[in-house]
Amino acid sequence: MDVPLFASRASLEPLLEEIAARQRAVLDGGRYILGPEVEGFEREFASWVGAEHCVGVANGTDALAIGLRALGVGPGDEAIVPSVSFFATVEPVVTIGAVPVFCDVDPATWVMTAETAEPAITERTRALLPVHLFGNPAPIGELGELASSRGIRVLEDAAQAHGARLDGAMAGSLGDAATFSFFPSKNLGGFGDGGAVVTSDPEVESMARRLRFHGSEDKKTHTEAGYNSRLDELQAAGLRILLPHMDAWTAARRKVADAYAEAGLGEHVELQAETEGGESCRHLYAVRSPERERLQTALAEAGIGARPYYETPLYRQPAVQQWAPRDPFPSTEALCAEMLALPMGTALDPGVPARVTEAVASALGN
Ligand SMILES: Cc1ncc(COP(=O)(O)O)c(C=O)c1O
Repeated sequence: MDVPLFASRASLEPLLEEIAARQRAVLDGGRYILGPEVEGFEREFASWVGAEHCVGVANGTDALAIGLRALGVGPGDEAIVPSVSFFATVEPVVTIGAVPVFCDVDPATWVMTAETAEPAITERTRALLPVHLFGNPAPIGELGELASSRGIRVLEDAAQAHGARLDGAMAGSLGDAATFSFFPSKNLGGFGDGGAVVTSDPEVESMARRLRFHGSEDKKTHTEAGYNSRLDELQAAGLRILLPHMDAWTAARRKVADAYAEAGLGEHVELQAETEGGESCRHLYAVRSPERERLQTALAEAGIGARPYYETPLYRQPAVQQWAPRDPFPSTEALCAEMLALPMGTALDPGVPARVTEAVASALGN
């Protein structure tokens, strides 16, 4: 591939020495779990997101399990999950003993909205779990209105949404709590696994802190069965060096998306519409086309990386199909059959969007 699907590595290169030095200092200091680097990162990340608290955990999947439990979701409770996402969105609902209830997504923005979530609400609903898919913020304002009058909590799955905004506020500061992943390919990606629960609610924070450490506040008394799930010092040290670059990197990704639109890509395939008042952080740049397979093959022949995402609606995954809706959701089915990610990244060559657009036009002949 002379145009790779992910083009961000070059932005990391100049920082690697500084990261290695900082991680070397951690090695020399001998404190590897829950030390000053994690504390510092939690402070800095919470402040960047615009929330009061951040609790660093081992990965974004644990963050969801811990976040749900910290919000009071437990066995038998229902949590509403969009049907278009990575499996990790629904998995923790099942592992904590709660019941996933799937909802459709909006056909233009590809995220959960009040309109798609409302039909899934029952008396047992305790949480909405909107996903900011590919960085496009779900409309948390309207979801919050739907939820709060019914005593339902909103947990944002912001694993793909570092730096996305809605009405000026950062994704992750909008719901009752939010979860992030620092998996290496994420917009803020570390050098291994990592995750966080972010909230401005002190009770949710203290429960999340207990849950990540075997359900204990003082390491002596265990008030619930929790997890051994901490962000580690080596990861936190690296993430602290990357964080100050996030605003520039988000701007670079948004510029790539603008360049695709300016090149006329939307005349050939359907683009993901940004939520009203939203600014996607463009984690992935996916488009939709009924001719996905033909398009992917033609792009590969032209040396351009492209990959389908989420080809299977979540409710068709064997592990959770017992909770599938009676009738398949129309927007979900169509999207999963049509989504194709195109090259995106903080260091993408500026000529790429025009070149990809030309290749798409010639492949589809439209
Ligand atoms: C939407 C979404 N939720 C949750 C996760 C889980 O994050 P992690 O891989 O850090 O467990 C991911 C990423 O993998 C994701 O894309």
